[in-house]
Amino acid sequence: MSLKPAKVTKKKEPKEELQKPKGTRDLLGSEVLYLDGFIEKASEIAMYYGFSAIITPTFEKESLFTRSIGDGTDIIDKEMYVLRTKGGDKLALRPEGTAPVMRAYFENGLNSKPQPVMLYYAGSYFRHERPQRGRLRELRQFGIEIIGTSKSIADALTIHLLTIILKEVGIKNYTVSINSIGDKDSQIVYKRELSNYYRKHLKSICADCRVRLKNNPLRVLDCKNEKCDLIKAEAPETLSFLSNDSKRHFKEVLEYLDKLSIPYTINTTLVRGLDYYSHTVFEIIPEAKDGEEALSVAGGGRYDYLGKQLSGKKDVPGMGGAIGIDRLLETPGYNFPCPRIVKKPKIFFIQLSYEAKLISLTVTEILRKAKIPVAQSLSKDSLGAQLGKAERLGVPYVIILGQKEALDETVIIRNMDTRSQDTVKINDLTNFIKKIK
Ligand code: HAM
Repeated sequence: MSLKPAKVTKKKEPKEELQKPKGTRDLLGSEVLYLDGFIEKASEIAMYYGFSAIITPTFEKESLFTRSIGDGTDIIDKEMYVLRTKGGDKLALRPEGTAPVMRAYFENGLNSKPQPVMLYYAGSYFRHERPQRGRLRELRQFGIEIIGTSKSIADALTIHLLTIILKEVGIKNYTVSINSIGDKDSQIVYKRELSNYYRKHLKSICADCRVRLKNNPLRVLDCKNEKCDLIKAEAPETLSFLSNDSKRHFKEVLEYLDKLSIPYTINTTLVRGLDYYSHTVFEIIPEAKDGEEALSVAGGGRYDYLGKQLSGKKDVPGMGGAIGIDRLLETPGYNFPCPRIVKKPKIFFIQLSYEAKLISLTVTEILRKAKIPVAQSLSKDSLGAQLGKAERLGVPYVIILGQKEALDETVIIRNMDTRSQDTVKINDLTNFIKKIK
């Protein structure tokens, strides 16, 4: 079964205190089902590949993110929602899922389990971005992490699994934009070269990039300011500074992608806006609607130094990626899978008096136990109006419970096709339903 998006009608702006914060959304009815439907589908696929579920808190200690995502990144410098508790703790609403999963990996002793540990998760993340198309302040992601192996197959599995999930929900036209930023040694050499190059062009770059150059030179490549485009286009490429190990790793990843027929393009300026990455970084970009800028629907990469950075112990290599669910649902071709929890009503239950309503919940529970979902009107609508509703819903049967039936402990069951009616004792309802089901 698949669901189609409901028509959006523009409403008058309500009073300020009734308005949600900028960049957030209320999800109603089918929108909730779209979200649940995707998470259920993606989780199921991840489980087939041996991933197990993890849920981490919505907020963490602020230092978890500053230490992993890094000062000088947009997320830490401008976008994190930080709060101080009455006890003086500094907490942050999680802006992303990888650092919390790595924290939970150590805290729950997963490092002493057989490696790698493969986890999937879904939830809300918070970034104080300028609200615009594809940029929310509460965003939802489905992510996977493979912790405890440096093998290139983990990189391939991550990208493969995310593309499989996208294909299963109807996104057939996409490309994987991929790069390698190498290991620590490659990065030291590259950052030096990049800084030397940018220093020669200090007058032509934006003020933010001048600061980035001092604090975190790799971030100049994330700059969205047009002023820096030309300089960025001519900047040295990470691939030219890879160590032999990094080169071999990247070559293997590309061989896997070729073998799996995953379409990719090497994007030499892709470094991604989080500091914990090393080696492979990637984004998945679906074909955009005519005239619209293509936005990445998923992104990720390898983070071989994050484990040590957080735990202070030995290196724990990792690889992962996350799909932005809000963007995915807006992507052309998305086929809106329906979650299994959806129960299409089979019976419309009409209750016509206070006496009837008094026993109606008992009847609904009998129906639930018999696995019959009902629709009902709790209002005072007339029999005719309620039958009209049942007709519009297209249910095959209606149960009518009026004052007389309530006293007799019976219900009337009406076949909406033949218009025939049966009076059935409430005690016999389950047996009767089994016959007509
Ligand atoms: P990210 O690229 O920051 O990576 O986010 C992943 C996806 O979330 C993006 O591709 C995009 O679809 C969606 N997204 C990001 N920001 C917004 C926003 N403001 N509004 C709507 N959607 C957004 C990470 O978060 C990493 N933790 C991924 C990862 C997992 N790396 C390794 N493991």
